[in-house]
Amino acid sequence: MDKRRASVLSTLGVERYSARAKRSDACDERGSLAHLGATDETIAAFGWDELATTVAACTRCALSATRTNTVFGVGDQRARWFVVGEAPGADEDAKGEPFVGRGGQLLTSVLRAAGLSREQVFIANVLKCRPPENRNPTPDEVRCCKPYLERQIALVKPSLIFCVGQIAAQSLLGVDTPISKLRGAVHEYGPDKIPTVITYHPAYLLRSPRNKQKTWDDLRFAMGVAGGVGA
Ligand code: URA
Repeated sequence: MDKRRASVLSTLGVERYSARAKRSDACDERGSLAHLGATDETIAAFGWDELATTVAACTRCALSATRTNTVFGVGDQRARWFVVGEAPGADEDAKGEPFVGRGGQLLTSVLRAAGLSREQVFIANVLKCRPPENRNPTPDEVRCCKPYLERQIALVKPSLIFCVGQIAAQSLLGVDTPISKLRGAVHEYGPDKIPTVITYHPAYLLRSPRNKQKTWDDLRFAMGVAGGVGA
């Protein structure tokens, strides 16, 4: 680039823009993903194979540079219950599977109390890549990654979404309401108004075991919304 052009671009703040574009790769305001040909709109039409392949190669945000594995999601693609978490942690990043650490073991027990095995539900996170140091997802990361979760939910067509944790719930529902106000109500997700129940994140329960009773209340509430035991 010649000096004059560089100086004009610098005056316009374009240097800063291109640095940011590099960090965040191709996920712009409209969610275009030019180099993979996958925009938010094309993702919304993907089948399972295309979706999995695109997630595995995703560089929509900077988390692609620090992840070990993408964490697509696991379970029954025709499940009645869709469990939504926040983002992979260290164990999940290492294994490429959601909720496999201590919190995951607790989630598995919670589901079992509803008569559900991990294989009978579908489990996925809002983010498919681990945020470094397990920090909270940024709004930009959620915006880039959410079309994948939206498509997963559309393909599964669950009769209930069971969402764990305040950040997952706020990201999924697009609200900033605290979890204390989100619990105990039936929310509606997406154009199909899928009944959605919010409970605490298992990692929070590991830190505050006295809230396990409230989780059991949420689980019974969810079972009622889903019309009995999940499967
Ligand atoms: N926490 C989450 O929200 N998801 C996981 O997969 C693991 C921990």
